[in-house]
Amino acid sequence: MQKAVINPWEVKGEVDYNKIVKEFGVERISDKLLARIKKHTKTLHPMLKRKIFFAHRDMKWLLDEYEKGNKFFLYTGCGPSGPIHLGHLQVWYFTKWLQDVFDCELWFQFTDDEKFLIKNKSFEEIQEWMYENMLDVIAVGFNPKKTHFLIDTKHADLIYPQAIKVAKKITFSMVKSSFGLNDSNNIGLIFFTSVQAVPAFLPSIIKNKKTPCLIPHAIDQDPHFRLTRDILPKLGYYKPASIQCSFLPPLTGNQGKMSSSQAIKAILSTDSPEKVKQKINKYAFSGGKATIDEHRKKGGDPDVDVSFQYLKYMFEENDQALQEIYNDYKSGKLLTGELKQLTIIKINEFLRQHQEKRKKAKQQLDKFIYKN
Ligand code: TRP
Repeated sequence: MQKAVINPWEVKGEVDYNKIVKEFGVERISDKLLARIKKHTKTLHPMLKRKIFFAHRDMKWLLDEYEKGNKFFLYTGCGPSGPIHLGHLQVWYFTKWLQDVFDCELWFQFTDDEKFLIKNKSFEEIQEWMYENMLDVIAVGFNPKKTHFLIDTKHADLIYPQAIKVAKKITFSMVKSSFGLNDSNNIGLIFFTSVQAVPAFLPSIIKNKKTPCLIPHAIDQDPHFRLTRDILPKLGYYKPASIQCSFLPPLTGNQGKMSSSQAIKAILSTDSPEKVKQKINKYAFSGGKATIDEHRKKGGDPDVDVSFQYLKYMFEENDQALQEIYNDYKSGKLLTGELKQLTIIKINEFLRQHQEKRKKAKQQLDKFIYKN
């Protein structure tokens, strides 16, 4: 079997979440923690209930502070190098829920520097993607009064003086082992993690008040924040807390993550209803049996079926409805074609709304970009 690799710049192989929890040193989200969150939020987001957001760092501390009246801000981001897919939207729609229920500020970083450094694309291409990606972020529906876009190369006057303070505390060997870099990588990438650390404490500087930070992100970003957490106390700031999700599977099954550089593995935010139908029907890995007869007799496997996983991750919020689909597919009552059809309808309804908001996002762009 292919050895799994998981870091911000590469995800491949079978992802074993138990192993990640051990190796990364993150904590599983327990039912007790969920109950504590629910005290404040009244309801739990399906991605929490279903443990799709499955791990965290320091959530207990964050809630202690919150209960003492020390409110936190949210920080997440986007590396602009191509179109937005459902895996990005998974994290951002959850982040919007957090913003709404905790009524907090969100600092949203666009790492155009990072993507320029890692991808074989010109700076201009990256800028174009960044503009497109911003429309998707706005379409999620974040509160414009409480959301601040930070663009690494445009807000360099704010970011750079802080990034060098972080960089001074990180050695090349720490970066090499955390990110799988070697002597032939370009030197920009070696520095980059200090840039991604900055939004975790920049608001504390701007407001001149040490403020707790919660970072919702997919688990592959954890190496950045492991380093960030080591260093911020040395600079006089809180360690950021984080809440981490597993990857929405690529169309082809449970290996790696959805990625827009491999279009056949991903459903994009701008895909038409026909395109979604085509992709699901043609590529979505199925847990069904080879023939209808066999499927009816032996039933399918919803746990490996990608369409079912999409319903579970994002598109069927009703627990009872989801359980029925699970049971019916497992018993053979529901056929693969029918399950795919259900999923196509749900994704298209979601994308129709997202795309409508995306069209109106252009006029709002200016409100979101941070002005110092
Ligand atoms: N590096 C991330 C990416 O490639 C973008 C990012 C920047 C980010 N800051 C973040 C993601 C904070 C999650 C949380 O997509």
